[in-house]
Amino acid sequence: MKVLFIGDIFGSAGRRMVQEHLPHVVESHSVDLVVANAENAAGGFGLTPAIANELFDHGCEVLTTGNHIWDKREIVDYFNSVNGDASGRVRRVLRPANYAQGVPGVGLYEGKTKTGQGYAVINLQGRVFMQDTDDPFRKADALLQQVSSKVVIIDFHAEATSEKIAMGWYLDGRVTAVLGTHTHVPTADNRVLPNGTAYQTDVGMTGPYDSVIGVQKEQVLQRFLTGLPGRFEAAKGDPRFCAVLIECDESNGRAKSIQRIMLGE
Ligand SMILES: [Fe+2]
Repeated sequence: MKVLFIGDIFGSAGRRMVQEHLPHVVESHSVDLVVANAENAAGGFGLTPAIANELFDHGCEVLTTGNHIWDKREIVDYFNSVNGDASGRVRRVLRPANYAQGVPGVGLYEGKTKTGQGYAVINLQGRVFMQDTDDPFRKADALLQQVSSKVVIIDFHAEATSEKIAMGWYLDGRVTAVLGTHTHVPTADNRVLPNGTAYQTDVGMTGPYDSVIGVQKEQVLQRFLTGLPGRFEAAKGDPRFCAVLIECDESNGRAKSIQRIMLGE
């Protein structure tokens, strides 16, 4: 089974890269499942239902998010609109699972690919240099007890490389992949850990690289130089598509390989 995971889709430039590259990447690599982090797909801040639908139309099958999930207020009503359709689009948009109990949305989706292969996706958020959440390690343990699929993909949306690497080791042999998102800079440490878990500290941003992690660079520079508050807007230049391709054995969920992909215009 081949899983493509697309790193943080940022603004319209990122969405355009998904539209341009996803179909040919899926076709040329015979991809079975596409998961994407979309927390900043709406102008660089949050996700709207319309943009989630656009990404599903482009071929994404599960959307993960992170700390920016509440930036667009519509997402709360969207999560609350979930009905009995266990594989409907609303159900396939995740927020980090280790948020306070009772908040809208869920952090685990279990489904089947078009060819009937079972899989699960879990979204977690780190706690180092980030807002306070429940323990992502213990939350992973609890969720894995509920999961029946062998193929399990974890999006660990976290800031600190140490916390992400620790999660990789913690889950090695228990999940198919631990993939880092949030920092928007692809890391070159893709590898399959000894017990069969594919790992990369950060998949990298699918968005504008003529920027500071997606935001117009002049605006971020002003903030660093003066400390004054100011507008942050999504940049547009040098868009790239950043993803990882994981090949795994669907009978036991073990990863065989993890390969980095970065494509420009
Ligand atoms: Fe984030």
